Amino acid sequence: MASVSMESVSKNFGTHSVIHDVDLKIDDGEFVVFVGPSGCGKSTLLRIVAGLISASSGTVKIGGDDVTDVPASKRGVAFVFQSYALYPHMTVARNIGFALETMGIRREAIAQKVQQVARMLKVDHLLSRRPRELSGGQRQRVAIGRALVRQPEIFLFDEPLSNLDADLRMEMRMEIAKLHADLKTTMIYVTHDQSEAMTLADRIVVLNHGRIEQVGTPSELYRQPGNRFVAGFIGSPRMNFLAVETRASSGAEQIVGPGGLAIARQQSDGVPVGEIGIRPEALRLVPSGTGRLDCVLERIEDLGHEHFAYCRVGDSSIWVVRLPAAPSSDAIGKPAALAFDDHAVFLFAADGRRLLPAIEAPGTMRALP
Ligand SMILES: Nc1ncnc2c1ncn2[C@@H]1O[C@H](COP(=O)(O)OP(=O)(O)OP(=O)(O)O)[C@@H](O)[C@H]1O
Ligand SMILES: [Mg+2]
Repeated sequence: MASVSMESVSKNFGTHSVIHDVDLKIDDGEFVVFVGPSGCGKSTLLRIVAGLISASSGTVKIGGDDVTDVPASKRGVAFVFQSYALYPHMTVARNIGFALETMGIRREAIAQKVQQVARMLKVDHLLSRRPRELSGGQRQRVAIGRALVRQPEIFLFDEPLSNLDADLRMEMRMEIAKLHADLKTTMIYVTHDQSEAMTLADRIVVLNHGRIEQVGTPSELYRQPGNRFVAGFIGSPRMNFLAVETRASSGAEQIVGPGGLAIARQQSDGVPVGEIGIRPEALRLVPSGTGRLDCVLERIEDLGHEHFAYCRVGDSSIWVVRLPAAPSSDAIGKPAALAFDDHAVFLFAADGRRLLPAIEAPGTMRALP
């Protein structure tokens, strides 16, 4: 097992700058997920850790040793990619054991190791099959098995589940979580799926345009996002946002906006609020005239166990409300209102930085990142 650290790591492809000055420390045994939109640099950063590409500047350390110039094969890492890239002509057993063959390990020792790993991944009944005779989930297990036999110090996963259907993703996600709990090996896992990040990670690293926006536990990122980007990225459906103005009146500040929005700001730090955000689960849909934000109910989505109401606020914003039960479809197209508690409101400056809350939620921490 090993820790990983990156100090001032940057990467350019020609004149195209892709990773900017990344500093990150990952503890021995930690499960860290890199998440962010397509093209933000997740795979590039993971490949820099693996040694598959080199950083343009900065230092990479594994287990405290500087490995910046050490080749991938000597870093003690194993990689699982989105495409399984199994050897099609080899059996499952040989696919899993191949890395050990190339190391010149004795045949009996390989067979034993392959059995052990295959049992762990529940593919021990498939050892004599070829990859084309396997389902997607089984192939992905074999790909993980291939990484596992090498007993790496660090596992690196790049979107390993994105080719699988929803059920299988869920199942494999649990398998990977269990694998981590059993092995306690350091794992770095790349995904663009925030729910995968939330469910797997000890800590999540949110990347955007090659920069780290925030690092924290799933709960920290959800409850204490440092900026609008993280607030909008973590949570599904995402946080609702509304452009607002701050007005001073008789010593107090008021946040005002479309739909008759008015929130007293009691903990001002002097920076004007540019936008507010409220999560769909913190809103209640109430009859017109009885809430704090006027809207028009435009659409209801019925997912069986929950419902989403899409409400137009002002001219251009559609807000999503999570509801336990569906409102009557007669309400569609009619005025309605949204109710919420002050402590559910996130405030953002024009530059996206998160500002102090209007009112602190009972029992929440004050510290902002
Ligand atoms: N070999 C390369 N040469 C030039 N540009 C590259 C190369 N590899 C990646 N890039 C660019 O670097 C940026 C980051 O790419 P990267 O693959 O790390 O993104 P990602 O976050 O993994 O995205 P995705 O979620 O789509 O996989 C992109 O703009 C991409 O076009
Ligand atoms: Mg990628």
